[in-house]
Amino acid sequence: MAALDQFPMQAWKRCVNVAQASRSLLQSAPLAGDELLREAIAKHLLMRRGIQADPSQVVITSGSQEALYLVSRLLLKVDDEVLVEAPGYQGTYDVVAQTGARIQSISWQALQQQPENTPKAKLLCVTPSRNFPLGHTLGLSSRLTLLAWAEQNQSWILEDDFDCEFATGPVVSALLGLSQNQYAYQRVIYTGTFSRTVFPALRLGYVVLPTELIEPFFDTA
Ligand SMILES: Cc1ncc(COP(=O)(O)O)c(C=O)c1O
Repeated sequence: MAALDQFPMQAWKRCVNVAQASRSLLQSAPLAGDELLREAIAKHLLMRRGIQADPSQVVITSGSQEALYLVSRLLLKVDDEVLVEAPGYQGTYDVVAQTGARIQSISWQALQQQPENTPKAKLLCVTPSRNFPLGHTLGLSSRLTLLAWAEQNQSWILEDDFDCEFATGPVVSALLGLSQNQYAYQRVIYTGTFSRTVFPALRLGYVVLPTELIEPFFDTA
């Protein structure tokens, strides 16, 4: 749970008042979301997660749940194989299941095996920074193994960085950041959210798309 009893309500109200006083914000926003917010997220990802993202790759969504929904619609069709980490977030299963894809659970232990032993799939959904609900973090070598698996099988990885801000232990770069250091072609789609750091009713999340997927994403959305 977000610590709502600690939420700085007065400061929030002041910010909302300032924002609402700006008439330009009453105009409709670009399809991908407010430009300044996307720039701020791109800067934040560079500083905190080791991700290099151009703001044009960042799309604002209604929570990371909507990001997952839009990505699933873009990538998946009936009977595609999808690996979803277990235990994991039920909402991920529900969204992927809607596409008619076949879901196979993959345990935390199995995520750490050699790429050739991991089943082939079109998409892997994973929370490497902080597993939901157990809270553990996937180490560097396991992350590199997952990237190698995606590369070998030409699969996509959906990196759900839901509450990475609360991970304990050594900070590890996001899968996407590691991938950018290793591979020219990006197979990681990154989602983030402000549900835990601000408050869940805000419904503010985002997705970072590989550049090749930006156009198809908007064609499908
Ligand atoms: C692992 C995980 N991913 C995604 C979500 C959905 O987050 P959002 O509120 O941004 O839609 C949750 C919500 O609890 C979650 O636990």
